[in-house]
Amino acid sequence: MGMFTKIGRYFKPVKYILLLQVIFISLQFLAFYLRTVNAPGLKNINDGKYKPTWTSLETRPLPDWYNDGKIGIFLHWGVYSVPSFVDVGNEGLGEWFWFYWKGPLQNGIKHRKNKESALKFIAKNYPPEFQYTDFAPQFKAEFFEPDKWAKLFESSGARYVVLTSKHHEGFPLWPSRWAWNWNAMDNGPHRDLVGMYYEFKSWILFDRCLYHCLRYYFIGDLSKSVKKRGLKFGLYYSLYEWFNPLYLEDKRNGFRTQTYIEKKMMPEMRDMVLRYKPDLVWTDGDWDAPCSYWNCTQFLAWLYNDSPVRDTVVTNDRWGRDVRCKHDKESWGFRRNADVHDYFTMDELLEILAETVSKGGNLLMNIGPTADGRITPLFQERLLQLGSWLKVNGEAIYGTHQWITSKDPVTKGVCLGDYGTIAYDLERKHRY
Ligand SMILES: *[C@@H]1O[C@H](CO)[C@@H](O)[C@H](O)[C@H]1NC(C)=O
Repeated sequence: MGMFTKIGRYFKPVKYILLLQVIFISLQFLAFYLRTVNAPGLKNINDGKYKPTWTSLETRPLPDWYNDGKIGIFLHWGVYSVPSFVDVGNEGLGEWFWFYWKGPLQNGIKHRKNKESALKFIAKNYPPEFQYTDFAPQFKAEFFEPDKWAKLFESSGARYVVLTSKHHEGFPLWPSRWAWNWNAMDNGPHRDLVGMYYEFKSWILFDRCLYHCLRYYFIGDLSKSVKKRGLKFGLYYSLYEWFNPLYLEDKRNGFRTQTYIEKKMMPEMRDMVLRYKPDLVWTDGDWDAPCSYWNCTQFLAWLYNDSPVRDTVVTNDRWGRDVRCKHDKESWGFRRNADVHDYFTMDELLEILAETVSKGGNLLMNIGPTADGRITPLFQERLLQLGSWLKVNGEAIYGTHQWITSKDPVTKGVCLGDYGTIAYDLERKHRY
């Protein structure tokens, strides 16, 4: 008899925990419903202030914070941060490793050279059955401390930070439900690297949530940490994904079907905006298809009319092969085999900054965090040096405007499409 009362006593708290879980799960479903399914939608897209046409969208003024901010930090971080390799002299992109390795052979010597070195690198260092997806569990971000990063960014004098929320490899750094088992919550770091995570799934494992939620509550997350320090927080989002079967199917159909847009890109991108409220939405990977395939004007009209960031958000111009202007870029992801000479010196950096700002542009400096979540000391040093310089000279940088419009606003051949942004990689001495 006594034994049964004992069991009953233990059983009671279990019942309450189960009940709490049921309530939490229902709340999460409700939150998800309110956030996405029932969110102000693309339904009445023609009713808003901005119509889904370029003539209408272009009438929207650029928010002041962007023009005045002048300096931003770009973070390229993803599964590619694990191999973090491109061969010296190949002018390759670290974050393109998967495509070099497994993608179809492209025209041009650059691609061929990078493909050869990727194949060699894999053959030499990994077993034959190794796949790119096997890199993901090694992307652990175990030293990632968002508050520490945000403090460094603030000290650098930058006014905004842009993080790759999802690169062409299709691996979202947040628990995207449209990328099952291929996102930073299900795989790799097992945490939301973009912002606070409140996904119903996590509540099922109550202990896991308790642990994560408390951790986030006290340690914070990147979007919160960055915003807390008065910096703007932006997200890069790759429209296309190299190996997404839905995308490849649309491509085979000459982009006359939009399965990938309907099933993956549009709901995911909207969820990203609704969750993290980015001040800047930086799209990329648009070049295969025209704007009409990406439903770009519809998305932008929603973003400017109905989204929670409609008054503050800034976007770039990479919205389809018919929209953007062409340009080249260099490695943005972390590269383990980089030498000290591969990084910008302070003098070089200041020269670029002065030139860019004098011509009315913004400077976006790229750094590549490591797979274990660090910003290497050399990047830190450069950022801190810039910060000290700006403490003295910032008055001549922030909030300044061009005096007269130059016929050649920024150095010749540079695209001014991204609202006059010049993006530089602090590691490779190359320009976006
Ligand atoms: C894309 O735009 C077309 C044409 O306006 C519309 O019919 C379709 O529903 C849109 N798709 C998505 C996913 O927004």
